[in-house]
Amino acid sequence: MNSLQDMFDPRQFRASGHALIDLLADRLADSLAGQGKVLQWRAPTTEDRRWQQPLPQMPALATAELLEKLRDDILPAGLAIHHPRNLGHQVAAPLPMAALCDLVAALTNQAMAVYETGPAATMIERQVIRWLNELIGWQGADGVLTSGGAQANLTALLAARQQTAGWDIWQHGTAAGPPLKILASEHAHYSVARAAGIMGLGVNAVVKVAADDQGRMDLAALAQAHRQTAANGARILAVVATAGCTPTGSIDPLQQIGTYCREHGLWLHVDGAHGASALLSKKHSAALRGIALADSVVWDGHKLLYMPATVSAVLFRKPEHSYSAFAQEASYLFQGDSSSDETFNTSYRTLECTKRMMGLKLWAAFSLYGVQAMGELVERVFATARLLADQLQAAEDFELLMPPQTNIVCFRYRSGNQAALRQDLVESGAFHLTQVKLGETIWLRTTIMNPFTAESDLDALLTSIRDLKA
Ligand SMILES: Cc1ncc(COP(=O)(O)O)c(C=O)c1O
Repeated sequence: MNSLQDMFDPRQFRASGHALIDLLADRLADSLAGQGKVLQWRAPTTEDRRWQQPLPQMPALATAELLEKLRDDILPAGLAIHHPRNLGHQVAAPLPMAALCDLVAALTNQAMAVYETGPAATMIERQVIRWLNELIGWQGADGVLTSGGAQANLTALLAARQQTAGWDIWQHGTAAGPPLKILASEHAHYSVARAAGIMGLGVNAVVKVAADDQGRMDLAALAQAHRQTAANGARILAVVATAGCTPTGSIDPLQQIGTYCREHGLWLHVDGAHGASALLSKKHSAALRGIALADSVVWDGHKLLYMPATVSAVLFRKPEHSYSAFAQEASYLFQGDSSSDETFNTSYRTLECTKRMMGLKLWAAFSLYGVQAMGELVERVFATARLLADQLQAAEDFELLMPPQTNIVCFRYRSGNQAALRQDLVESGAFHLTQVKLGETIWLRTTIMNPFTAESDLDALLTSIRDLKA
């Protein structure tokens, strides 16, 4: 039996920690070198059978056995996120130093809900928020870190609702006024519709605005949707533009949408979960021109800021809006008075009460590498995506959906069932990629997240698809 001392023993922590880091460093080295499979595919039902152990009443593993199990069983059964042929989802190949900072967050467990449960964590988060706002081009703005872009979108839309409804909707609910609508591109992330559902508006409150053939919100369609919604007697809660939409990575025309929203007094929310990181690059930031016209912006760290999941920023141009989403009094936390110290209690502004110390890893990455090197990571993956697009365009047996605006490339192999091709490729462990249905057509979809993905990996992807079909 383990004694209390054993369970918290700092010496044991030190020794196991060194061993664990060795093991992870080996895994990182292998993955970056492209060794082994991207994914050791096993059907979920098969994998599920391996995880049916009885609940241990007494120790079932020694620490050394836990490490062995991690090395031999658990890590190999995961997706090798740093593998250069991992081209699937918009999930960062995290910076190792950022991952180490997450270990700090885990052990020190700075709960963040109120300032005194994490004074340094609170200040680091505020620092990171100021930096991100500076990159947007905002001065005196505010915001907060939260767990994931979906939750960040909900938080921004809750704030927008409180500001734009025209009555105290937090207090009196949705039934106390006219219907509220959200105008968003047909390619907006599903979390926007989910936010409408959570807010009690119904998912039909999201009016889908058509996109052009490059996946960008069509301005005439936005104006038409606006007129129609107003004519129906509904009020517009927000216009949601996307910088880096999920299916194709397209960036809505933020300058024009922002100007339109300003002219018509509409709240503009920019979901930049994926694409806001283009702001780090002098070469690509122009694609986001107009983002500063937004009222709120969401920006995921665990996408193109190369952070371990999760860390997302929800940012507000007007600092007071950062307090609009969750307007209730939580007196047991905030002790009721309106002293300015209360503004340092982040849970006033997030769905989470306790939350992880998320700012440290971002603060460390910006401090260690600077905007320039972080921007180069973005530039590399954007350039690799363009290279892949060029290769696809040059190959007669492939069809490119559109030139990439970010790092997402969609394409089809001209013969064969795309879904079956993808499944075969994923199960082979040679590549990981996704698929997307646009209209009635299924496209293969790659997201280049890894700056080490090379031209030879792209060549191999095309060859593997051809070989599968052969
Ligand atoms: C445009 C966009 N918004 C929001 C999200 C949701 O972000 P998260 O997965 O961090 O909750 C995604 C996820 O892929 C996304 O692509």
